[in-house]
Amino acid sequence: MSYLEIKNLHVSIEDKEILKGLNLTVEQGKVHAIMGPNGTGKSTLAYTLMGHPNYTVTQGEVIFKGQNILELEPDERSRLGIFLAFQYPVAIPGVTVANFLRSAVNARRRAENPEDKGLPIPEFRKMLKEKMGLLKMDQAFAGRYLNDGFSGGEKKRAEILQMATLKPEIAILDETDSGLDIDALRIVSEGVNALSGPDLGVLVITHYQRLLNYIKPDVVHVMMDGRVVESGGPDLALHLEERGYDWIREKVEEAAA
Ligand SMILES: Nc1ncnc2c1ncn2[C@@H]1O[C@H](COP(=O)(O)OP(=O)(O)OP(=O)(O)O)[C@@H](O)[C@H]1O
Ligand SMILES: [Mg+2]
Repeated sequence: MSYLEIKNLHVSIEDKEILKGLNLTVEQGKVHAIMGPNGTGKSTLAYTLMGHPNYTVTQGEVIFKGQNILELEPDERSRLGIFLAFQYPVAIPGVTVANFLRSAVNARRRAENPEDKGLPIPEFRKMLKEKMGLLKMDQAFAGRYLNDGFSGGEKKRAEILQMATLKPEIAILDETDSGLDIDALRIVSEGVNALSGPDLGVLVITHYQRLLNYIKPDVVHVMMDGRVVESGGPDLALHLEERGYDWIREKVEEAAA
């Protein structure tokens, strides 16, 4: 069953067209990887799916769980179960990781039931402790200001912790592997794997086949110049690692000629 369906998506930033008719379907519970050269619009796609105001959709549609999400505000998309782990997470000095996550969890609960009084603090603490354990994070982390002075790897872990507490139905991970050391890469991947299953679809954007040794994709897509130009199984990523992108570029140019 297709779950997230992106059809003929055109997106511009400041009148420059970045996505030029992108098509992509993600089935429920499947892991899809997106690869592709720098500047081809991978992050643009991620931000557009979340509803970032700088990205203007000029054509196309994005259907998630039967709804055209392009009509929804970012918080409505989040409540519908879409989650984005940023390539460059921002710091929020003054707001601790624990408080941030508790507000997010409670906002999500209130969206489902306006009468909800929020998750009781002891229960929230217990849940947070468990998730931090899963990601092998120091408990002291919860008391620090979100992303404030976090190392690159700590930021990525904080993003996955957010994903673990929010339990989205589709998670978009934009270069979650960049800046991670080998152990952290394994831990973060294990965290993603522990969360994935029949209810969680994952769209993982990465430059390296290495990550896909840990987070095993069902489908690999290649983006070039604002479109998905090639899709295949996990082998496609291995192929790219060996041969680079030129052969795909040539194929695309031949098809266009
Ligand atoms: N605010 C902006 N103003 C102008 N151009 C922008 C803006 N944001 C992105 N772009 C351009 O859009 C194009 C696509 O950028 P995007 O970040 O989506 O690429 P990417 O595929 O994620 O690249 P990378 O692999 O380097 O992360 C780039 O040419 C970039 O310079
Ligand atoms: Mg990017």
